Amino acid sequence: MPQITIAKPDDWHLHLRDGEMLKAVLPHSTRWAGRAIIMPNLVPPVVTAADAAAYRDRILDALPGQDNFTPLMMLYLTEQTEPNDVVAAAQAGIITGVKLYPAGATTNSASGVRDMDKVMPVLSAMAEAGIPLMVHGEVVDQEIDIFDREAVFIERVLHPLREKLPELRITFEHITTSQAVEYVRASEANLGATITPHHLVINRNAILAGGIKPHYYCLPVAKRETHRQALLEAALSGDRRFFLGTDSAPHTEPNKLQACGCAGIFNAPNTIEILAQIFDDAGKLSLLEGFVSRHGPNWYGLPVSDETIILEKQPQAVTFESEIMTGEGPVAVFDPMLDIFWKILS
Ligand code: DOR
Ligand code: ZN
Repeated sequence: MPQITIAKPDDWHLHLRDGEMLKAVLPHSTRWAGRAIIMPNLVPPVVTAADAAAYRDRILDALPGQDNFTPLMMLYLTEQTEPNDVVAAAQAGIITGVKLYPAGATTNSASGVRDMDKVMPVLSAMAEAGIPLMVHGEVVDQEIDIFDREAVFIERVLHPLREKLPELRITFEHITTSQAVEYVRASEANLGATITPHHLVINRNAILAGGIKPHYYCLPVAKRETHRQALLEAALSGDRRFFLGTDSAPHTEPNKLQACGCAGIFNAPNTIEILAQIFDDAGKLSLLEGFVSRHGPNWYGLPVSDETIILEKQPQAVTFESEIMTGEGPVAVFDPMLDIFWKILS
């Protein structure tokens, strides 16, 4: 059976939550990822170096014994964040970067940024110290259609920010549009982007056609098919500015299945298998390792893992559990609605 061996992947955008949920979801990531950038949108958010260090310890305590995994911590940017605290946290090796949530853009983003001018001193200090900014790239204005919020963010926030602070290294996270792909491609330096497995697989029909399907609802929301095609092209191009960030974001079934359900797709259990299938179907299996294991470390100035994983193509489609049980309730696993033949051997 066909096999490939690749450097151990990393996840450059992951929600692990806390407490019982953390314990239940963590092994699904550490099964395949050597490192992950851990999103700080807890309640309350991770805003200080002490918060980040304590959260990192809780993650390490929850680690399955056999897995070697490094959580890379982030600070949640607020209008009160002090430049010196950020620089000190980075220099002490506690954080890898800072996350910008426009206030109200997504789950637990209420303490995020309303006025970019208020965070310019922090961002300037970060640019000077070489600390990256990870960006949830959506405007929140009610008059902007939800399907346009990423494209408008590029014009109104991202581009002006990059003009003001060209030295700031920015990761444009979970991109969902052709405009984002084009914008990253056109940049000369200091801009990278993560892409999720789900945005490579679904378009907005998955959420809305044939009934409303909350398990395909996440933010930024999946767009029309032309945008998915642009994302696929970017992921499959070998361009080092594009790399994997799963945005695996568990919510319990009761929180997903209600009149106002939570945004988030839990894909940690099948991310690598889905990506192997996508790259295989495109005849680009040789570029999988770049996307999942090499471009990310290169972007963040870290070594590529010296561990490896082996993927094997099975004669029959493999199956994944449809949900996992957690101490907080069941969490549905992303169903890509396509046959997956790849399996991780070790
Ligand atoms: O779908 C999402 N879920 N998008 C985000 O930006 C946040 C995440 C979450 O924390 O649930
Ligand atoms: Zn996220």
